[in-house]
Amino acid sequence: SSAAPEICERTLIAVKPDGVQRRMVGEVIKRFEQRGFKLVGIKMLQASEAVLSKHYHDLQKKPFYPALIRYMASGPVVAMGSMVWEGHNVVRSSRLMVGETDSSQAKPGTVRGDFSVHISRNIIHASDSVEVAEKEIGLWFHTAELITWETNDHSDLYQ
Ligand code: PPS
Repeated sequence: SSAAPEICERTLIAVKPDGVQRRMVGEVIKRFEQRGFKLVGIKMLQASEAVLSKHYHDLQKKPFYPALIRYMASGPVVAMGSMVWEGHNVVRSSRLMVGETDSSQAKPGTVRGDFSVHISRNIIHASDSVEVAEKEIGLWFHTAELITWETNDHSDLYQ
């Protein structure tokens, strides 16, 4: 009998407009690559109201909702980097790397704990469960934009 296939999890990481403005895209990619996660999709875009209202659907009744949507669609050059990573327990471990939602509570060593002081400018988004991650990936990416690539030593390039 063959071994059970490894369960692959995906998550959505988004560098928010303040993170893009502060040139933190590279820092975020570096941290996730160093950890061993695999990048399977990446794009920069102006987040539309339509996507944001779906993405933050569950928060519609919160007092901070309008400000949250404004923030996510704001900036001198409004931009967002979204990344989907694949790896073992990627949802849980990425949340640990991102740190507490409220940056003032985020531990040093986390993205928010190292670079952010306030919940309303918290630099980065990471899906909070496997189910939510699947939904968010479907919202931000077309299937064809996700590339499942195999790790190899690239020896074929030199043949
Ligand atoms: S909640 O209240 O528990 O449902 O919220 P939470 O799951 O912790 O956070 C959901 C997203 O809302 C953002 N958030 C806020 N933005 C601005 N101001 C305040 N007070 C605030 N509270 C929560 C928070 O950053 C989460 O965004 P994402 O993009 O998911 O990180």
